[in-house]
Amino acid sequence: MKPSSFTQPGYRVTADADLTHHNSFRVPARAQWLIEVDDARALPEVFGLGAVKRSPLLILGEGSNVLLTRDWPGVVLAVAARGIRVLEDRGDDARMRVEAGENWNEFVHWSLGHGFAGLENLILIPGSVGAAPIQNIGAYGVEVREFIETIEAFDRHSGQLGRLDNAVCNFAYRDSLFKRDPDRFVVTSVEFRLPRQHELRLDYAGVREELAAMKIDAPNPAALAEAVMRLRTRKLPNPAEIGNAGSFFKNPVVPSALANELRRENPALPAWLGNAGQCKLSAAWLVEACGFKGLREGDAGVSERHALVLVNHGTATGEQIRALAQRVVDTVQTRFGIRLEPEPRIV
Ligand code: FAD
Ligand code: EPU
Repeated sequence: MKPSSFTQPGYRVTADADLTHHNSFRVPARAQWLIEVDDARALPEVFGLGAVKRSPLLILGEGSNVLLTRDWPGVVLAVAARGIRVLEDRGDDARMRVEAGENWNEFVHWSLGHGFAGLENLILIPGSVGAAPIQNIGAYGVEVREFIETIEAFDRHSGQLGRLDNAVCNFAYRDSLFKRDPDRFVVTSVEFRLPRQHELRLDYAGVREELAAMKIDAPNPAALAEAVMRLRTRKLPNPAEIGNAGSFFKNPVVPSALANELRRENPALPAWLGNAGQCKLSAAWLVEACGFKGLREGDAGVSERHALVLVNHGTATGEQIRALAQRVVDTVQTRFGIRLEPEPRIV
């Protein structure tokens, strides 16, 4: 692979590629090779290339959940295949195959426009369809795992394309088989089953109030999607305006006894009861209580809109953002005894 860029049927290779516009923090980084695959059938050939066999691999979608702290000394592989196809329509619901390179939000709009329900709470989440199962994206009381039937992926262990049923993906809050074993599976497409009618999820804080403000008392999926878009636009900084990766930390899940103890000392700390005596705490509240909201160190900062969102005000490097994240983790640990875990992949 000598020339700086070349195209083959199904993929395109660029040498010494600039990744600044391939990550939503918009931090500078380069990859030795960037391979953009627009046809999954080319993957066996791609994985046969000498450079791919010899060098470290990083799979990238739209880069909205990664923090690049250095140049990548190997191959960055992006699945760019597009397409949405209804495979089976049973009337009450339908099964559809969506290629990994489709944009998630565009697919949600497509589903609503074709009369399907289910994904309305997940509208406006950035990124690709192929990345949606990696951390089991979730918002406003819904997780994508509820609608995934099967995932097609290239397994680097076997060197073959295969299918993984929902049950083997070990989906959990911001977690899956894929997140625990990164870069083994290249997700090439996702099969969803979406209903035409379903009970809307309105219980997440602020949703009913937003619908009331919109003067809607009998919402349909499109109205709920509109309410969620309004909430998200108000709460979260827009990565097109200021670099960020959404929540930088996961909400910590702790034993209920510990949550109760913390809440005795900090009655305002939001906590949600989970399964098996566990409680989810608000990481945003913990970070804000430590005084980080709106803080800025050079161009690395914590959003003034949402304490869980680290931002790049302009020319921050990934390393500067990582250093700020570490300060947040250490301070929250010292003050509350809770160790926050990052949500994005730190490269
Ligand atoms: P990338 O950032 O490119 O990759 C993320 C991870 O997935 C990496 O580990 C990468 O190696 C892996 N990966 C990507 N594509 C593939 C593939 N085809 N095969 C195998 N592995 C792959 N997330 C939520 O869950 N809920 C939210 O409400 C939410 N809000 C957000 C708001 C903002 C403003 C931003 C910037 C991010 C938000 N996120 C949210 C995080 C992000 O949108 C999701 O994690 C999204 O799924 C990332 O998609 P991506 O294509 O950008 O993946
Ligand atoms: N809060 C603060 N300070 C803030 C912001 C929030 O104290 O600056 C407290 C408030 O009490 C608020 C509570 O935190 O009621 C929860 O806030 P929010 O509804 O914004 O949700 P979150 O827990 O901070 C999670 C997800 C988001 C998702 C929203 C909506 C995680 C790590 N984050 O945020 O996902 O959009 O819920 O469901 O679970 C992402 O993963 O990147 C992401 C943005």
